Amino acid sequence: MIIRELTVAETGLLEQAVALEQAAFGIGGMNAWFLVPFIRHGRVFVSLCGDEVVGVCEYMRDFWRTDHAYLFGLCVKEAWRRKGVGQRLLRESCLVLKAEGIESVSLTVHPGNVSAVRLYERMGFRRTAFREDEYGPGEHRWEYELELSTLKE
Ligand SMILES: CC(C)(COP(=O)(O)OP(=O)(O)OC[C@H]1O[C@@H](n2cnc3c(N)ncnc32)[C@H](O)[C@@H]1OP(=O)(O)O)[C@@H](O)C(=O)NCCC(=O)NCCS
Repeated sequence: MIIRELTVAETGLLEQAVALEQAAFGIGGMNAWFLVPFIRHGRVFVSLCGDEVVGVCEYMRDFWRTDHAYLFGLCVKEAWRRKGVGQRLLRESCLVLKAEGIESVSLTVHPGNVSAVRLYERMGFRRTAFREDEYGPGEHRWEYELELSTLKE
């Protein structure tokens, strides 16, 4: 398995990344209209097993803290979960950002998303805020942040 950035030219991979997003997040998942601008103006990384996209994550750079990036989404194909794919994708993509001068990464996660919360906490993300009704009534989120200096090569 390899981790690398996704480009717009890779149409087959782009479609797979969208399908993975939709399967993982339903209406909250990326479609091509969102993923393409994220590729061009943000950062999108995929885990590839041969030609199969088994994981995808997206980052945007923060306008207010320019040394900070926000992890917009992270998901792993269902059959590939609990095999370390998510951890490797997150870790390696964070190391790329760190090498480019980004100092910290934040994200939000549903309080009941046990697998994601465990993954983030094991990687060293610290809980920084509780965002009540972040995405509408009852859609609360924890906010987490990681200082990239704590992430070892
Ligand atoms: C969250 C997600 C990305 C994790 O990806 P993954 O490849 O399964 O995670 P990994 O195998 O790298 O697991 C890393 C660690 O996370 C934790 N973890 C992962 N899945 C878990 C589960 N089902 N239950 C409890 N802990 C879990 C464990 O601590 C695991 O380490 P361990 O296996 O050594 O105990 C994946 O479950 C997913 O795509 N979920 C749907 C989309 C989603 O919720 N994304 C996050 C939105 S904020």
